[in-house]
Amino acid sequence: MSTVVCPGSFDPLTYGHVDIVRRAAQLFDNVIVCVAHNPNKQGLFTVAERLEILQEEFSDIPNVTSDSFAGLLVDYCTNVEACAVVKGIRSNQDYEYELPMAHVNKQLSGIDTIFLPTSPELSFISSSVVKEVVRFGGDASGLVPPIVLKKLLKRL
Ligand code: PNS
Repeated sequence: MSTVVCPGSFDPLTYGHVDIVRRAAQLFDNVIVCVAHNPNKQGLFTVAERLEILQEEFSDIPNVTSDSFAGLLVDYCTNVEACAVVKGIRSNQDYEYELPMAHVNKQLSGIDTIFLPTSPELSFISSSVVKEVVRFGGDASGLVPPIVLKKLLKRL
């Protein structure tokens, strides 16, 4: 059984994230989408709220579960016996940001990171852009799933 972890901040979940999780679910037996607790970063949504969104969004995919973790990603991966971390790559900048983390995680625990290129039509989407669009009254319906949009409109 291959279990992989898709970690992230998911503040909030975007269609870019959804694309990566759904494609990972076609490639691996089990996918755990995992919200990282970052004590140094005040998010728009709490970790519990982000987790609730993930659970709702992926409820139709039997081999996707959602969870959260604090501390090192590699410790979480070891606990759930994941064989790899899966991350979406939208651009060169993403690659440059992700590569050192992939190396650190490999060095710490031996776990590999698999990079999936985000589908080109979604590769301009980021959680920060989404927040900015909604904050200034723009239409973010093409950027995030409806459950996220509803919560964003309430929050911002
Ligand atoms: O969605 P993001 O912000 O790109 O996700 C980054 C995340 C949460 C995957 C990364 O910061 C992480 O793995 N944090 C947990 C702490 C950790 O393991 N750090 C060592 C890797 S450098």
